[in-house]
Amino acid sequence: MKLFVISGARPQFIKLSPILQNLNLTSEIDYYHLHTGQHYDSYMSEVFFEELDLKAPDINLQVKSTKHGEQTSKMISGIEEILLQERPDAVLVPGDTNSTLAGGLSASKLQIPVIHLESGLRSYDYRMPEEINRRLTDHLSRMLITTSQTATKNLLNEGIEESWIFQTGDTMVDAILRNSERAETISSILEDISVKKKEYLLLTLHRQENVDIKERLESILTSLNQIEQNIVFPMHPRTKKMVEKFDIQSYLTNEKIITIDPVGYLDFIKLEKHAKIILTDSGGIQKEALTLEVPCLTLRDNTEWLETIEMGVNKLVGAKENLIVSGVNDILSNISKYENMSWKNPYGDGLSSEKIVKEILSRYNSGNLSISSNIML
Ligand code: UD1
Ligand code: UDP
Repeated sequence: MKLFVISGARPQFIKLSPILQNLNLTSEIDYYHLHTGQHYDSYMSEVFFEELDLKAPDINLQVKSTKHGEQTSKMISGIEEILLQERPDAVLVPGDTNSTLAGGLSASKLQIPVIHLESGLRSYDYRMPEEINRRLTDHLSRMLITTSQTATKNLLNEGIEESWIFQTGDTMVDAILRNSERAETISSILEDISVKKKEYLLLTLHRQENVDIKERLESILTSLNQIEQNIVFPMHPRTKKMVEKFDIQSYLTNEKIITIDPVGYLDFIKLEKHAKIILTDSGGIQKEALTLEVPCLTLRDNTEWLETIEMGVNKLVGAKENLIVSGVNDILSNISKYENMSWKNPYGDGLSSEKIVKEILSRYNSGNLSISSNIML
């Protein structure tokens, strides 16, 4: 089987990493990795290939940053050329970025079956480019890999053929379980930035609907100044750009706010693991917080990761200053509750990637990946 894997953004390299490692172990699938170049700074891309010992992408389209339509269309025309030359048996796209949609759309138009990893999640928030990308890709796909019953049900409600869905756990859980011990041994990030275990909060922020809107971004940054603990803030390049554009750097001058460049995966796992609380608007980090048993506050009005909320280990606080501050204080005053509870992971046992690779091959070999399998000639 000839499989093309298409990605382009930081979380995609992480969620793909255990799949790529498992693909290396099977001689029955030849895989090629096409990187769109959506993320290009070495700390947003190259570092993950090095740290996770992944083969460098076979092709990099170097699309880089621009407006949504322009970025996506550049990706589509580049991907189409390659797919026409290479004619793979299937294309695998992870997640919900513009690279995901571009990969799915290009392949489906060429009648190449699309496999969507992390499909079926819904925020029902149509301000989010991710909601659009994920919905559209789901409806272009021939194999839809879901991480939970919630995602599977969403797909069934939208009329997706049941036999096209494959439910396992989450490959980000696989990745973090595979790398947690390595991170503990290798990373010296806590010493490098002079923070002690469980004596800081960890913050990430990058969603368009938070950081591109001045009032929301200001409200979040104001809240940081009302929190007494140290806050480690590896700042996403989008956020850095917007803080400079809005000229609001002064919110980050408080010495308790330790602003650093984005870090590699191993350093980030170590930062997550030893944080007292994680504050984030990231999708992936909500699941990683649960996996590492750290309480989380999500700086969004909704989440696709409902199980984290239902378990009581994640709370939505939006971008509202008072909700963020009271959310932090509530967790700190109830910290023993989190230390003593059972953290049963709803996103799998860390072995999902193995099952996914086996299932792709089995569906391919039995003709069940073919896009014309339901057409009577
Ligand atoms: C993208 C995804 C988002 C995902 C996030 C993960 C879309 C629509 N968005 O958002 O779903 O959660 O990645 O991090 O696909 N930039 C750099 N260097 C880089 C990459 C980006 O400086 O290597 C800066 C540029 O100023 C760029 C901005 O970040 O304009 C945004 O990058 P872009 O890839 O468009 O979106 P993200 O916010 O990274
Ligand atoms: N991450 C990282 N370094 C950082 C911040 C995040 O390695 O400085 C990793 C993190 O462990 C997770 C992924 O990046 O696996 C999350 O990506 P991001 O928040 O950019 O995207 P999202 O998950 O929201 O799409």
